[in-house]
Amino acid sequence: MTKEQSAPGGEPLRVALLGCGVVGSAVARLLTEHAADLTARVGRPLQLVGIGVRRAGRTRPEAGVDPTLFTTDSTELVTRADIVVEVIGGIEPARSLILRAMEHGASVVTANKALLAEDGPTLYAAARDHGVDLYYEAAVAGAIPLLRPLRESLAGDSVRKVIGIVNGTTNYVLDKMDSTGAGFAEAVSQAQALGYAEADPTADVEGFDAAAKAAILASLAFHTRVSGRDVHREGITEVTAADIQAAKDMDCVVKLLAICERVDAHDGPDGPTPGGVSVRVHPAMLPRRHPLAGVREAFNAVFVEADAAGQLMFYGRGAGGDPTASAVLGDIVAVARHRVGGGHGPGESSYADLPVLDMGQALTRYHISLDVADRPGVLAQVATAFADHEVSIETVRQQQIPADLDDAAGPGHAPSAARASLVVVTHAAPDAALSATVDALAALPIVRGVNSVMRVEGV
Ligand code: HSE
Repeated sequence: MTKEQSAPGGEPLRVALLGCGVVGSAVARLLTEHAADLTARVGRPLQLVGIGVRRAGRTRPEAGVDPTLFTTDSTELVTRADIVVEVIGGIEPARSLILRAMEHGASVVTANKALLAEDGPTLYAAARDHGVDLYYEAAVAGAIPLLRPLRESLAGDSVRKVIGIVNGTTNYVLDKMDSTGAGFAEAVSQAQALGYAEADPTADVEGFDAAAKAAILASLAFHTRVSGRDVHREGITEVTAADIQAAKDMDCVVKLLAICERVDAHDGPDGPTPGGVSVRVHPAMLPRRHPLAGVREAFNAVFVEADAAGQLMFYGRGAGGDPTASAVLGDIVAVARHRVGGGHGPGESSYADLPVLDMGQALTRYHISLDVADRPGVLAQVATAFADHEVSIETVRQQQIPADLDDAAGPGHAPSAARASLVVVTHAAPDAALSATVDALAALPIVRGVNSVMRVEGV
């Protein structure tokens, strides 16, 4: 960063940092390294007045930060700051510290997706009551400017859909499974060895992290309160090498997607379904030509469709110290500018108050791969199961299963019976109808096995 102009003087704005892990130490270092430019951009100096940490003696000398700034008394620290930056994560003590900071007149910058997804309205209400700002660009997709575009740049448009890869760990795992043929456990071990996945990868691989981010994205996109509990969540632990191969056979890749979309009222199998918003996280097949399919390794990318703007794509690093700190610093500058020049950032916008639909009401498409007996009438029985649930088939592909593979099925299976693999891709239908169809197919005597079931997006 170069010095842009001679730095203005004036009383410094006091910044308190809560947490000094990977992100916190990067924020502290960049605040110090870029002090002159930040002062010029804000109009007043930013002074780091303290760093709240859990354990005494944690001085992180590598951050290049004055060790006397560290304190274990965060409760006191937040009362003597104009801007409090919370990068502790988790619900408590982060929530209490943020609320206390706001009560004492501080604006808050946080990267805490779990807290925002669980209790965002409480934070917004406190910010409004105390006349301070709440910014949280780093909470979703790290360095990628995404929340400000949704909160501000697209505030005059009508967003229809947000679909993205918002968890780098799972994207890395699925990418390795696709490119090397590795199984899930092997790919997770690789991700752990490279530091992408935590020792306990549950939050990532079970989709909790992505679900919190989806709740935040949907709340902003649709001006509707959506909490993490409203998000249908499926992780990637059940994705098998067979699923990846099935996707390859379709010229698709498997990605863990966060999908937030407006659903218009439609007729479902149980009568008319009201419109609303569908918010979900699950693995899905995407055609390789889709822009999100090309997002490799631990990168994140988010596609936004708005009525007037059309399609927009945001891409970049979704995690890591410096990339996440970049988003935090952008927020610090924004709230600091308000302190200097007056005004506030946007508050909560939940006026639309759209119903959040059950997963069963979401309109999805399925790819289903079946192992069936190859004899007359089988296709008709399979087609009837779809028709019974009012699910329309888009394509069917049948392939003979060679006898040697048939023999490998084990002693319980008669090697002489002709078998085929039947791959069905459906048109969009209510997810409940598709799921019931899969159950009905699995119960058919002519179906020897359901090899792979996966939703399909982006076609
Ligand atoms: N664990 C997250 C990921 C980064 O893998 O993308 C923080 O949200």
